[in-house]
Order: sequence, then C-alpha cells, then structure tokens
Amino acid sequence: MNILVTAGPTREPIDPVRFISNRSTGKMGYAVASAAKKMGHEVTLISGPVCLSEPDGVEVVNVVTGREMLEAVEGHIDASDALIMVAAVADWRPRRVSMEKIKKTGEDALTLELHRTADILSVVKERKGDKIFVGFAAETGHPVDEAIRKMKDKGLDLVVANDIMRSDSGFGLDTNKVFFIERNGNIHDLPLLTKVELAGKIVEWVVGASG
Ligand code: CTP
Repeated sequence: MNILVTAGPTREPIDPVRFISNRSTGKMGYAVASAAKKMGHEVTLISGPVCLSEPDGVEVVNVVTGREMLEAVEGHIDASDALIMVAAVADWRPRRVSMEKIKKTGEDALTLELHRTADILSVVKERKGDKIFVGFAAETGHPVDEAIRKMKDKGLDLVVANDIMRSDSGFGLDTNKVFFIERNGNIHDLPLLTKVELAGKIVEWVVGASG
C-alpha cells in the first residue's frame, strides 16, 4: 500500500520570535511511519517540527504551519491508499503575524486575536473514495464519546482515542493507552502498549480494512 502519515505538532507564528504550538513530540507518528515501512509499504511522512531521526526508507516532507501541512496532504492524498493523521495540528493561528518582534509596552496584558486553522481531515474527506482514513483523538477525560463525534464529522474509518491526562499515555511518552473506535461501531479497549507496538497494530488494522 501507499500510506500517508502525518506526525508532530504544527506551529503558527506570532512574530519572528514566538509561535503557538502544542506538546506533540512526533513519537507516535514516526512509529507508525516506521512500522508501515518495515511491513513492506511505501510511506510518505509529513512531519511538523520534531527532534527525531527520519525513519529509514520513508519519504519525509517537512512542514511548519497547518497550512503547509494541509498543502502537503493535498499534494499526496490522491496517490495514497491510506491516510493516518497522527499530527497534532494547531487549531488556532494569530489573525495577524507581526513582521517584527512584539515589544513590551507599558501594558500588563496583550490580546492576540486567534482564527481557526483549516481542519485537514475535513478538507480532504471529499477525496476519500475507498481510501482508509485514520484519525487520532487526544482527549482530557473519557475519550470514546468525543472520538465517535470526530469519526462522524471527519469521515474516518478508525479513530485511535486516548486520554492524555493519564500519566502513562500521550505526549512525549513511549507508551499509549488507547481505544480503537471503528466506523461499524465496534470499540476495542487496548492494553497499555509501547508506541512501537501500537503503531504495528494501527498499520495491521489499516491493511485488514483495505481488504
Ligand atoms: N486534525 C486535522 N486538522 C486539524 C486538527 C486536527 O486534520 N486542524 C486531525 C488530527 O490529526 C486528528 C484528528 O483530526 O487525527 C482529531 O484531532 P484532535 O486535535 O483530537 O481534535 P480536533 O478536531 O482538533 O477537535 P478538538 O480540538 O475540539 O478536540
């Protein structure tokens, strides 16, 4: 299969010094890309800014902002059999990016007006056809209800949902405790796994679903 994977955070600039981002380190997405390659697939990895080595044999497209990630996904989606959106895309960008460093004035407060970034999965779902789409849902609290909503809104075949408040699961760690929520309504409560083990299970699920 040709498998397209996104990973890491995106960054939205405020000024030449500062940006809005999130705590994603890219470990989960890189593990998925690496597992897919080891299982014999052609893999393109669209990566936000991370401090990880490129997986062997994987074509890596580096991006910074959500717009760049959207454009890279749009450029690769038609040649892909599956899209696995692991990236934690920043949902908000400053309406105005200052070309110069914002200096402290006499004020105690600074107000930034934020606008929504495009939802990448929602944009490309028109081009889904019989491709397999997998999304992640990083939640605080029980993740299943939100994951079901995201599955419907974004037209997904599988949502991998995790509770990021657990101490053994989520950003920057080597393990993840997730649920697989399938389009047909099945919910699988997976045990605590390493991200490498979980990555293998996600790729196996994608291969199984592609028939
Ligand atoms: N996603 C996306 N484009 C965005 C934001 C998220 O394609 N602008 C994808 C993520 O890669 C993930 C899924 O949508 O696969 C769910 O992301 P998540 O951050 O959990 O949810 P959001 O849709 O951003 O919703 P909320 O912030 O309300 O939880």
